[in-house]
Amino acid sequence: MLSIRDLKKSYSSAGEKVAVLRGVDLSVAAGERVALTGESGSGKSTLLHLIAGLDAADGGEIIIGEDCITKLSDAARATLRRDRLGLVFQQFNLVPSLSVADNLAFQARLASRHDPAWHAELVERLGLSQLLKRYPEQLSGGQQQRVAIGRALAVKPLLLLADEPTGNLDEATADDVLALTRDLVARTGCAFLMVTHSARLAATLDRHVTLHAGVVA
Ligand SMILES: Nc1ncnc2c1ncn2[C@@H]1O[C@H](COP(=O)(O)OP(=O)(O)OP(=O)(O)O)[C@@H](O)[C@H]1O
Ligand SMILES: [Mg+2]
Repeated sequence: MLSIRDLKKSYSSAGEKVAVLRGVDLSVAAGERVALTGESGSGKSTLLHLIAGLDAADGGEIIIGEDCITKLSDAARATLRRDRLGLVFQQFNLVPSLSVADNLAFQARLASRHDPAWHAELVERLGLSQLLKRYPEQLSGGQQQRVAIGRALAVKPLLLLADEPTGNLDEATADDVLALTRDLVARTGCAFLMVTHSARLAATLDRHVTLHAGVVA
């Protein structure tokens, strides 16, 4: 589902070029759940941004499903991201002016992929049925992140990318949210790549890879 070959990315800072990704190779199969760890500054978020097409690589190849995203135009990458990728971040990133129900359906509606039966199943499995009329500021962190995960999965993505999705949650809530995510990923059959600093959470996924010195070990 996801195939990365020899991916390279450098940043220039203070006139100096710093190579962050020096030839990353990584594949994630449909239905596979992979944890990505690595020291702070090792390039985990950079890698996720490149996979999501939010930034362009300097070299190498990223294939998602049938599409080689490193060869697509910015517009085509944005369309692929909207229609076939689910993104979850540490900061939840819900739309403050929209209700829980509308936040959940937000991406799927933009992508013309809103499926009422799947939407209802997500509401049920994520335990959101009593919260649909609330607004994000009226939710706990764990509740907000369940909405964000539902929004990402509502499009039935090929790939769910999560950057420290439980970083702002206490341990018990993090465990609950990740357990729900694992089940929903299995139900959806998408690939799942999650950045985490927690070895404990990483161990609950199918595979654990580490980014070090610009490559995946
Ligand atoms: N836009 C940018 N311009 C210049 N340097 C950047 C930029 N984005 C990231 N970097 C640098 O690239 C390196 C990797 O950053 P990145 O955010 O990918 O690390 P990370 O592994 O996600 O770290 P953390 O665990 O702290 O989130 C860091 O040294 C960072 O300073
Ligand atoms: Mg990061």
